[in-house]
Amino acid sequence: MSIAVKQTSDITRPLVALRDVHRVFKTGNTEVRALDGVDMSIFPGQLVVIKGRSGSGKTTALNMMGGLDQPTRGQVLFKGEDISTFNERMLTRWRRKEVGFVFQSFGLLPYLTAYENVELPLKIVGRSLGERRARTEECLELVGLGPRAQHRILELSGGEQQRVAIARALTISPSLILADEPTGELDFATSMKVMELFRSLVDEHGVTICVVSHNPAVEEFGDKVYEMADGRVLEGE
Ligand SMILES: Nc1ncnc2c1ncn2[C@@H]1O[C@H](COP(=O)(O)OP(=O)(O)O)[C@@H](O)[C@H]1O
Ligand SMILES: [Mg+2]
Repeated sequence: MSIAVKQTSDITRPLVALRDVHRVFKTGNTEVRALDGVDMSIFPGQLVVIKGRSGSGKTTALNMMGGLDQPTRGQVLFKGEDISTFNERMLTRWRRKEVGFVFQSFGLLPYLTAYENVELPLKIVGRSLGERRARTEECLELVGLGPRAQHRILELSGGEQQRVAIARALTISPSLILADEPTGELDFATSMKVMELFRSLVDEHGVTICVVSHNPAVEEFGDKVYEMADGRVLEGE
């Protein structure tokens, strides 16, 4: 199988890093410090897990890495470049090139087939029919869903749906995959299969992945674990 992602040559520099990131949400008179001075570094070829209780700031931290939210203060470095200074247009272009997202509830279109869902990001970036077909088939194979390609999403199990979502995240050959509670709606055995798939994408295909999870079994798959509480990082292992 060919390499699924762009190769990142400099493994001594973080692929993505949060530097003293603060994020304050204001609602009415109250302020929530979702991130209160967070430092994190994710190096190329790592699988990093962010854990912590609900409300500790995990999703906010992940959103920063994907340019889905911007810090009140601090830097978000991607390959050394501060993406928090990008405008919406630059962010969209950057995201389409560099980042794949995987969500707890899969975020797939239920009436389309697995193939059509995985192909969609390639249509958005305007790839030709031939390129789309080759890449879509490759990514479905990579997650072990070649034989299910023509099934509609609503005919697939939860674990299969999450694998479709992972294949979709891979299509653009992102440098980074960000997964927010990707096993949150899956049973234990299926969750472990999804984590094994992430692990093999990192080990065999050079993908860099950051997973948010509060499942202790998921932690075991990480090269590094950040624990968050009240918008801060407690420890890095
Ligand atoms: N868009 C928002 N508006 C206001 N408060 C928010 C928003 N997003 C997150 N928060 C608050 O920030 C804190 C951290 O949220 P979040 O990052 O979603 O935590 P986690 O993913 O660890 O459960 C919580 O107190 C949450 O209520
Ligand atoms: Mg969350």
